[in-house]
Amino acid sequence: MLLTILLLLLSQQALALVTQNGTACTVTPLGTSSTADDTPQVLDAFKKCGQDGSITFSEGTYYIGQIMDTTNLRNVDISIYGTFIWSTNVQYWLSHSISVVYAGRSTAWRIGGTNITMRGYGKALFDGNGQTWYDQNKNNGNQNGRPISLTLWNAKNILVDGITWRQSQFWHTFVAHSENVTMTNLVMSSVSNSQWKTVNTDGTDTWNSKDVTISNWTVTCGDDCISVKGNSTNINVSNIVCHESGAMCIGSIGSNAVQPDYVENVVFDNITLTHSSNAAWIKTYPGTGHVKNVLFRNIQFTNVNQPIYISPCIYSGQNCDSSRLQISDVRWENISGTSRYNVGAGMHCSSSAPCQNLTFANIDIKPMNGGTIEYLCSNIANQKSMGLTCTGTCPANWAQQLTGNH
Ligand SMILES: *[C@@H]1O[C@H](CO)[C@@H](O)[C@H](O)[C@H]1NC(C)=O
Ligand SMILES: *[C@@H]1O[C@H](CO)[C@@H](O)[C@H](O)[C@H]1NC(C)=O
Ligand SMILES: *[C@@H]1O[C@H](CO)[C@@H](O)[C@H](O)[C@H]1NC(C)=O
Ligand SMILES: *[C@@H]1O[C@H](CO)[C@@H](O)[C@H](O)[C@H]1NC(C)=O
Ligand SMILES: *[C@@H]1O[C@H](CO)[C@@H](O)[C@H](O)[C@H]1NC(C)=O
Ligand SMILES: *[C@@H]1O[C@H](CO)[C@@H](O)[C@H](O)[C@H]1NC(C)=O
Ligand SMILES: *[C@@H]1O[C@H](CO)[C@@H](O)[C@H](O)[C@H]1NC(C)=O
Ligand SMILES: *[C@@H]1O[C@H](CO)[C@@H](O)[C@H](O)[C@H]1NC(C)=O
Ligand SMILES: *[C@@H]1O[C@H](CO)[C@@H](O)[C@H](O)[C@H]1NC(C)=O
Repeated sequence: MLLTILLLLLSQQALALVTQNGTACTVTPLGTSSTADDTPQVLDAFKKCGQDGSITFSEGTYYIGQIMDTTNLRNVDISIYGTFIWSTNVQYWLSHSISVVYAGRSTAWRIGGTNITMRGYGKALFDGNGQTWYDQNKNNGNQNGRPISLTLWNAKNILVDGITWRQSQFWHTFVAHSENVTMTNLVMSSVSNSQWKTVNTDGTDTWNSKDVTISNWTVTCGDDCISVKGNSTNINVSNIVCHESGAMCIGSIGSNAVQPDYVENVVFDNITLTHSSNAAWIKTYPGTGHVKNVLFRNIQFTNVNQPIYISPCIYSGQNCDSSRLQISDVRWENISGTSRYNVGAGMHCSSSAPCQNLTFANIDIKPMNGGTIEYLCSNIANQKSMGLTCTGTCPANWAQQLTGNH
């Protein structure tokens, strides 16, 4: 009885912290103790003001202990001045994270609808408490239920701007089944302080989405910085600085051999990379579909393991030459910096679907550890006229990351 009254009081108090004026909601955090869950009032604000309204999250710390599924938004402006901290209840998240379908992944927060702005004004901070996730995952790959921080799901005409992420649980963001998406002025940083690596803390991944603009980001993540996955069209990425990442990546795509993946019209422009595994690259499984009309331009880097890389058989290194996923019309222009070893590019295209119309201009890659820079190429249809002199062939199962000079 006492507990019931207490809970009732608590929940009334929680609800009281959303003040509403018409469809303008202002939320203030409970802020009473570190275990008080702010999720109910956050969701309450979305319910009350998420359509033809506005929601303001005042300064302070919001403790997020539950999933948030806010996918029915319409004409809403969301302003966030506070910090959102996600709970470390691993068992809760593993069993409750919301499915995002792609590769069995799931998310802590799904946001969707039409005409949405979500602005952080450089003040919003999303803290995933990721160290708990890195430590329990122990360097394993994708873990079912480990939640993506924020997923844009069925979102149309959405702006996400001025938000900082720290210690993301898994991928920082995911853009799926969305169109006309603008994500600008974002800062992401996930770094493990233990023996275990962050693993799969991508900056963002796009999938089944079109008309996406990504600009002005600084990312430190330990995995792909910007990754364009299957069925992504018209994706413009510019003014990005990435540290410790997989940098600018198309893929992985083609994982489901009976389902084609298409990637078309992608621009990566003005990108700076430090100490990354790759710089401007394409990774596919031996599947079907195509990668077409991609431009990597003005990419400069320092100490990148293997700057340019193409693999038709990522991870397994098997059946490389049976991939029918066609890569064509890809251009690398003004690509400069230092590679960790003496390989500037390792490109093996599938002999069943040789790469068509790859072009290169103004490529200036210098090896850090001596030797002469090498460009390894196999199964590129226009190799002779592509603007880059290949120095040798590239084996089918060529590694994404090298451990020494070739
Ligand atoms: C509610 O909003 C209206 C219109 O924006 C404003 O005039 C009014 O002062 C607000 N009321 C309160 C209590 O803030
Ligand atoms: C979204 O905004 C556009 C332009 O303001 C408007 O025409 C459209 O009706 C809005 N969509 C919805 C679902 O309200
Ligand atoms: C695209 O979304 C932006 C908000 O990010 C909006 O201002 C713009 O009107 C949308 N464009 C179209 C064609 O609806
Ligand atoms: C991307 O850039 C290209 C060329 O600069 C432009 O034609 C296209 O409209 C842009 N797409 C988006 C989604 O902004
Ligand atoms: C990107 O950042 C620069 C300053 O660093 C700013 O002038 C520009 O408006 C930003 N672009 C966008 C799209 O927000
Ligand atoms: C390139 O991006 C950097 C941020 O990484 C920005 O400061 C600079 O203004 C951009 N250059 C151009 C030409 O947009
Ligand atoms: C990608 O688009 C194609 C063609 O529309 C479709 O057949 C395929 O199922 C889509 N792939 C995924 C993973 O949704
Ligand atoms: C090449 O790219 C770098 C960095 O992105 C940029 O600073 C430089 O101006 C570009 N050079 C040309 C010739 O466009
Ligand atoms: C080669 O690809 C470029 C884009 O990188 C495109 O502009 C050009 O038209 C393509 N050439 C042919 C012959 O298809």
